[in-house]
Amino acid sequence: MSINVAIDGPAGAGKSTISKSAAKELGFIYVDTGALYRAVGLNAMRTGADIGDPESIKESLNGISVDLKYENGEQAVLLNGENVSSLIRTPEASMAASAVSAVPAVREFLFGLQQDIAKRNDCIMDGRDIGTVVLPHAQVKIFLTASPEERAQRRYKELIEKGEAVEYENVLAEMKQRDYNDSHRAVAPLKPAEDSVIVDTTGISLEESVEKILSVIKEKL
Ligand code: DC
Repeated sequence: MSINVAIDGPAGAGKSTISKSAAKELGFIYVDTGALYRAVGLNAMRTGADIGDPESIKESLNGISVDLKYENGEQAVLLNGENVSSLIRTPEASMAASAVSAVPAVREFLFGLQQDIAKRNDCIMDGRDIGTVVLPHAQVKIFLTASPEERAQRRYKELIEKGEAVEYENVLAEMKQRDYNDSHRAVAPLKPAEDSVIVDTTGISLEESVEKILSVIKEKL
């Protein structure tokens, strides 16, 4: 049986960076499920779907294919066969991802793919509902969080380094809006699984956070 580690938490808590490092250390694959929702969001934008209308988002799923591939341990997300790994990282794609992720048909569409990957691989899978919905039997469940200001600051730095013209205040406002959307939606809202270990990374370095996660995983296994 494969070993599954579920890491959930709000945007900007450091899930992807920390999970990636920890997975490398353990020799597991790292699965970023947010990328799947982002690909569906990008597809909705491309097909001209009305992001505010669940029916329209549902229709945008017609004929779509989303898949993950791994090259040298790096995840790439494929939308209709096209590698869209960079295109899904814009603020617009983030908002579209948040909108489509509230639509039950989208969650159902991505559910099987995520379970399938976890069944076939030792993995650290990160997202919002991995410990609660996708992998309720994961051997380890972690809820990774940090204050909204710190998370916005990290995301702001990332975007500036990528050359995006953004304001910190806007990043913080969008972060709070996404937190609200993600934790108040009717299906699979963001919340810690009952049996998860909560790790708060506010004021903690990346290295220390990775150490913390690794020690939780090793203890549980
Ligand atoms: O982690 P991220 O910022 O790449 O996620 C993008 C959006 O997708 C986010 O607003 C919440 C949603 N998401 C989700 O609902 N469930 C997941 N397992 C992963 C992401």
